[in-house]
Amino acid sequence: MKKEQVVNCQFSVWYPIFKKHTIKSLILPLPQNVIDYLLDDGTLVVSGSDHNTQQTNPNNSDSEAEEDVQWSDDETTTTVTAPEFPEFTAEVLEAINSLGGRVFPKLNWSAPRDANWIALNSSLESQSLSDIFLLFKSSDFITHDLTQPFLQCSDQDSPDPVINYELVLRKWSELIPGGEFRCFVKENKLIAVSQRDYTQHYQHILKQEEQICESIQDFFLQKVQFNFLDEDFVFDVYRDSLGRVWLIDLNPFGEVTDPLLFSWDELTSGGDIAQNQDGPAFRYTNSEVTVQPSPSLSYRIPRDFVDLSTGEDAYKLIDFLKLKKSQQEDEEEEEEEEEEAPQ
Ligand SMILES: Nc1ncnc2c1ncn2[C@@H]1O[C@H](COP(=O)(O)OP(=O)(O)O)[C@@H](O)[C@H]1O
Ligand SMILES: [Mg+2]
Repeated sequence: MKKEQVVNCQFSVWYPIFKKHTIKSLILPLPQNVIDYLLDDGTLVVSGSDHNTQQTNPNNSDSEAEEDVQWSDDETTTTVTAPEFPEFTAEVLEAINSLGGRVFPKLNWSAPRDANWIALNSSLESQSLSDIFLLFKSSDFITHDLTQPFLQCSDQDSPDPVINYELVLRKWSELIPGGEFRCFVKENKLIAVSQRDYTQHYQHILKQEEQICESIQDFFLQKVQFNFLDEDFVFDVYRDSLGRVWLIDLNPFGEVTDPLLFSWDELTSGGDIAQNQDGPAFRYTNSEVTVQPSPSLSYRIPRDFVDLSTGEDAYKLIDFLKLKKSQQEDEEEEEEEEEEAPQ
């Protein structure tokens, strides 16, 4: 995989080509101070001003406000003044509204899929810039996009192409995971298709294997083949309940892209998998296979914590608060004892 292939898979490169066949989206350039903020480990909080709960100072320009992070000297009441990006916030809100009020956010290549656990609704659905910041700042995938997009490229000696970072906002769509497939294209030929959510067995895939394969193959031949800038690439599709196929994403043909039910060895080694048949090799999880744990499980936090944060379990919350209170009391007692103790 070459650096150029990664460049070509940026959202702003493929979206104009396939606009008619994918979810409506808007692309906003990311200002440098927002990029700096996303990469800064220190501050997670963002001003609530995009929820219109407080007046923003009209003199606060984007460039001067970002450094405004203060820790109070008083140890008992730590206050953090969140950075504000009034112009960018307004731009993002307008874009979100024009997409129906709920969006799926991503950067040039990646969505913060590893961070959905942190959101109150455990989802990537966002309604404001602070929702988006919370996801982005908690995501290693986003950090990867920002810091090492060319990590696994074979042409490491060539200079890194210049990347203009962009915030991609896609109209929120309820996609059923069983309708998602990943398609591998080599030398402009569709060689393999894998169920995307391979951790689950979906009965409808087993029943409609032929129709699914055919509709994806048709979609490829009619809308995708020869239209992209590379001859090797991976595209993700969604087949809706009416059998229509939509493009979801484009990815580089190489190790950075998860081969799902295939392996990169198979996909690159002369195409053994596709030789015997007309169409692509099609793989899905059938019922005999032990269902595997979700690959994103390792990014999650314990269930108890999620319950607490969403207030789904009131008793747990009360227990938690009681525990906190008794811990605090213990600590206070200890401190008093320490104070009394001779130095
Ligand atoms: N517009 C959308 N609304 C809701 N969910 C989406 C939307 N676009 C994608 N998704 C879901 O998010 C997953 C990841 O999206 P994708 O754009 O492929 O990001 P990545 O390249 O980081 O995996 C998809 O498999 C799909 O389930
Ligand atoms: Mg992708």
